[in-house]
Amino acid sequence: MSVKYYSGDNIYFRPLEVADVDALVTWLNDEDNWSTLGRSNPINRLREREYVEGLYKSPTDVSLGIVTQEGDALIGCFGLHQACAQSRRATFGLLIGDRKRQGAGFGTEATKLAVRYGFEEMNLNRIELSVFSHNERGVRAYRRAGFVQEGCQRQAFYRNGNYHDVLLFGMLRRDWERLENDDADAYARLASMTT
Ligand SMILES: CC(C)(COP(=O)(O)OP(=O)(O)OC[C@H]1O[C@@H](n2cnc3c(N)ncnc32)[C@H](O)[C@@H]1OP(=O)(O)O)[C@@H](O)C(=O)NCCC(=O)NCCS
Repeated sequence: MSVKYYSGDNIYFRPLEVADVDALVTWLNDEDNWSTLGRSNPINRLREREYVEGLYKSPTDVSLGIVTQEGDALIGCFGLHQACAQSRRATFGLLIGDRKRQGAGFGTEATKLAVRYGFEEMNLNRIELSVFSHNERGVRAYRRAGFVQEGCQRQAFYRNGNYHDVLLFGMLRRDWERLENDDADAYARLASMTT
C-alpha cells in the first residue's frame, strides 16, 4: 500500500519518488502524450531524476503522482507551479500518462482534486493553465472542472510542422467556492459553455 497524501473518490495523490522516473520518462516521451504537452524537448532518465530529486524543497511548487484508489496504480502526475506569494496564483499542469487510463474520467477528477489542493492547502486565489486548442480532451476536462477560458494566444506554439493556438484558462477561488457550495449545476453549465 503506498502513501496516500490527498484523496479523492477514485484517485489519490502521493509524492513522486525516484522509483517513478522510468514511468514518467515513458509517459513524457510517448508520441501521443507529447503532442499535447507544452514541451518541445525529449526528456531522459537523468534529467527526470534530477527533477524528481529537486521536488518538495520549495513551497512555491508542488508536483504529485496520481494513483488509482483501486489497485494503487500510478497513472500520471500534476503540478501547481510558481505560486506567487503576493498574487496567490499558480500555474496548473496535468498528465494522465498511462494511455490505457485516458478517457476514463481520471483527468477531470485529478483536475478537481488538484484545484481543491491549490485553494485549500496552498491558499491560492487563482489557478491558471494553458492548453493547445486541438487538445479536446484537455479542454473538456478543464471546463468540466470549472475553469473558464480567458484568452487565446494565436499560433503560439510550433509542433509537428504547424503553429497551434494556445488557450488560456483560469479559475478564481470565489468561483470555485460557488461551484462547491452553492450551485450543484454550475459545473455542468460551465462545461457546456462555448468560447
Ligand atoms: C488531457 C488529459 C489530462 C485528460 O484527462 P483524461 O482522463 O484523458 O480525460 P477525461 O476522461 O477526464 O475526459 C475529459 C473529457 O474529454 C472527453 N474525452 C474523452 N476521450 C476523448 C477523446 N478521445 N476525444 C475527445 N474527447 C474525449 C470526455 O468525454 C470528457 O468530456 P466530458 O466530461 O464533457 O464528457 C489526458 O488525456 C492527458 O494527460 N493527455 C496527455 C497529456 C496532456 O494533454 N496533458 C494536458 C496538457 S494541457
